[in-house]
Amino acid sequence: MSEGRILIVEDEAIIAREIRHALESFGYEVLAVISRGEDAVPFALRERPDLVLMDIMLAGAMDGTAAAAAIREQLDVPVIFSTAYTDRETVERVKPTTPYGYLVKPFEHTHLRITVETALYRARTERRLRAQEERLRQAEKMQAVGTLASGVAHDFNNILSAIIGYSEMGLRRAPEADPLHKMFDRILRAGVRARSLVRLLLDFSRPAATGGEAVDLRAVVDEVLDGVRAALPPGVEVDYRPPAQPCLVRADPTQMHRVALNLVTNAVDAMRPAGGRLTVRLERHAGHALGQDPPGPQVVLEVADTGRGMPAEVLRRACDPFFTTKPSGEGTGMGLAIVQGVVRSHGGRLALDSEPGAGTRITATLPAAQP
Ligand SMILES: Nc1ncnc2c1ncn2[C@@H]1O[C@H](COP(=O)(O)OP(=O)(O)O)[C@@H](O)[C@H]1O
Ligand SMILES: [Mg+2]
Repeated sequence: MSEGRILIVEDEAIIAREIRHALESFGYEVLAVISRGEDAVPFALRERPDLVLMDIMLAGAMDGTAAAAAIREQLDVPVIFSTAYTDRETVERVKPTTPYGYLVKPFEHTHLRITVETALYRARTERRLRAQEERLRQAEKMQAVGTLASGVAHDFNNILSAIIGYSEMGLRRAPEADPLHKMFDRILRAGVRARSLVRLLLDFSRPAATGGEAVDLRAVVDEVLDGVRAALPPGVEVDYRPPAQPCLVRADPTQMHRVALNLVTNAVDAMRPAGGRLTVRLERHAGHALGQDPPGPQVVLEVADTGRGMPAEVLRRACDPFFTTKPSGEGTGMGLAIVQGVVRSHGGRLALDSEPGAGTRITATLPAAQP
């Protein structure tokens, strides 16, 4: 594997060739040498290099700072400028593009190497920090939802008891032929749904029991699939081969059930009305890979569908509490928020992968428990 994929934007052929050789001798892969800013931008957006080495004075209409700004606007990629100019004006022009380095031509190979290495390292660190921040933000949001829920749940349950109780009474009194009967029935159903939502929020706000028992996810998946099989819409095929060895995780079985059920329900929903294939994969990995997350043996539960998939803006928000694209009354928007919360509170990680029109794959990776 190369140390990183680099795009060189440079209009002096001799210099470009030299930089290319130097970078290649350090173990980097040079994707291309491009001499015009206006060609570099689409290339970078398409090929997504790990780093761009950008000359400031370029042959075309677009200079290096403008090209860098256009690339950075859409792509999170470090840019190092190389130039023969060190005048105040040039430096000021470069600043707003937050360069990861500045090489003054002519430069030594060692200098090039250190600048590139530092920039790649900094970009990686920043990316990791941002991911951590995002996780923290999500965890705080879930906590806020939990606090809110437990704060109002009691009052809310009293209100719901009245709604449910009186609609039951009304239902009994109104003869079936009476239009009121149907109305009471609707009120009752909505009330019951609301009560189960409150319950869901409540036990989600309770901190996950530490330790937990060793749960075999094979049993959980079997139970969930048995449950949904009866209610599968026509045209949905299920592909699942239970693994031969146990897939143990230390967990609350009810919460694991909820994870699998939510993933499967979402997948099935996404394949209405055309149908498609629901693929469930359950595996235990010995887990010796270096730097893997979580470390050690893992259990992977993956639910994939060939349904409608998610556009980027839905994918980005799919795990937010109360985010739903389903008509009101059908989706609560809590499914994936709960899945993610449960997976993380068990020391695991959730990955979403989706392509609009083609399907979705959601992978939960959990630390395995010893048999
Ligand atoms: N397998 C999937 N395929 C396509 N879209 C999905 C899938 N899973 C989740 N989504 C999208 O994410 C949203 C949030 O999902 P979720 O949190 O389970 O709430 P809900 O199912 O109640 O809408 C869904 O409304 C849907 O737009
Ligand atoms: Mg759902």
